[in-house]
Amino acid sequence: GSSSSIINANILQCLSKHSQTPIPIYTPNNSNYSSVFRSTINNLRFLSSTTLKPLLIITPLQESHVQAAVVCARKHGIQIKVRSGGHDYEGLSFISDVPFIIVDLFNLRSVSVNVTDRTAWVQSGATVSELYYRIGEKSKTLGFPAGVCTTVGVGGQFSGGGYGSMLRKYGLADDNVIDARIVDVHGRILNKETMGKDLFWAIRGGGGGSFGVVLSWKIKLVSVPPIVTLFTISKTLEQGATALVHRWTEVAPKLPHELWIRIIFTLANSTRKGEKTILASFNSMYLGDAEKLLTVMKERFPELGLERKDCTETSWLRSTLYFGNFPVQGSLNMLLNRTQPKNTFKSKSEYVTKPIPEIGLEGIWKRLLKEEKPLMIFTPYGGRMDEISESEIAFPHRNGTLFMIMYIVSWNEKGVETSKKHISWIRELYRYLAPYVSKCPRAAYVNYRDIDLGQSKNGTATYLQGKAWGRRYFKGNYERLVHVKSKFDPENFFRHEQSIPSIAHPW
Ligand code: FDA
Repeated sequence: GSSSSIINANILQCLSKHSQTPIPIYTPNNSNYSSVFRSTINNLRFLSSTTLKPLLIITPLQESHVQAAVVCARKHGIQIKVRSGGHDYEGLSFISDVPFIIVDLFNLRSVSVNVTDRTAWVQSGATVSELYYRIGEKSKTLGFPAGVCTTVGVGGQFSGGGYGSMLRKYGLADDNVIDARIVDVHGRILNKETMGKDLFWAIRGGGGGSFGVVLSWKIKLVSVPPIVTLFTISKTLEQGATALVHRWTEVAPKLPHELWIRIIFTLANSTRKGEKTILASFNSMYLGDAEKLLTVMKERFPELGLERKDCTETSWLRSTLYFGNFPVQGSLNMLLNRTQPKNTFKSKSEYVTKPIPEIGLEGIWKRLLKEEKPLMIFTPYGGRMDEISESEIAFPHRNGTLFMIMYIVSWNEKGVETSKKHISWIRELYRYLAPYVSKCPRAAYVNYRDIDLGQSKNGTATYLQGKAWGRRYFKGNYERLVHVKSKFDPENFFRHEQSIPSIAHPW
């Protein structure tokens, strides 16, 4: 409408005044607007024609462009959404109920690796696999413990924790972040020293979109052995999956730190004609060679029956292809491919603090078997995660957590009714899981954003409203996050439906 064109004209004018170099901007009149908008929308559930589209998409080429975007949006009272990789489960980086603009960081994706220092600076618009590729280009013995899905953005992932196959050895991506550059609400660029320890604490795990725009992260690289070993062993219910999974809940969190065995649950055809069964795939990486792994498994988890023929020895860099569902021996260039596998889905997460009895597991199977395309993943914690205190950084799920559960339902058919059906299925599973998962709070992973935990219209939550999701994502760190937010962004400029509230602002 005409009011949006006036807003656009004002912002465009402001942007050109605040930048020495041209800033690439897409208005709805631009023929590429739609493709840029859609490019990194990972959850197709949020690509409907009825959602409000951004007034503008700003795609900064330099840090100063981000500064200009913040200054001008604030001056004209317009909400911004920051997008790095676009994988937000609830689409909060690109949808809104009120007029808004997107600051999309996909052009800011340089990675500079310093092998001597064993550090790197990575810009937020890079994907995690671009980071892995650049590290691998420079060194065969250095790596980084971030996510397993190749196309996830560094900006969103590092804002909320970031875990992958080296979690038990080295903790989260955020446990290895040693500096950052952030644009604050005044449009200033701050680093670790100038932002101070409170803000630096908050941006490591406190979730994206609440404190400013993180431009880049300085990370400490970690040692990886020249050979790592991968395996996936799959068992159906008929092959005794239930007892094995139960055994895994006792064993996996206590294995040597070098060994990470997660379980991926999907449906498969049963031996009984026309029936489905649960397939539990034990999917693993060991930081060491196959011979050593076989010794460890024989001693600690013989029930799984791992044999030499199940093992693939490769480099750490190539293991990232494996977890990204590419052939281990395939081209490493796949790591630079930003094309995302997309889906229409709804997901939830849990933290588990005591082993789930077999009867509890059987109730899960029963529910999974009612859906067409359910997926559930058990990710073991323990190891390094137990050694870091809950308040070291804003991410709080540490000692006492045996494993994390992520469950997801995806579907192909369109329509509101279909979505409703699948979403109520996952909510029912959530209710079922209550006795088996963490309580007070029933915790969740902020990077697996779940709007069912609570939300505020246009990010205007009070302290108490924000506690609904804040306590689950951040446990006892929620209070400090509110404190940091109130100090650095009292007027609540950086906000979204599940952001950290400011108590300095009288809503
Ligand atoms: P996106 O751009 O959507 O941003 C997510 C949130 O952060 C939004 O609120 C956004 O505004 C904010 N934000 C983005 N960039 C910012 C910046 N530069 N500064 C401040 N705020 C910013 N997680 C994990 O730990 N390990 C894993 O293996 C996986 N695997 C995985 C697979 C798939 C298919 C999906 C869809 C997701 C995952 N995740 C994951 C979860 C993932 O870490 C989470 O969705 C991240 O927030 C995504 O980051 P993006 O930059 O892609 O998202």
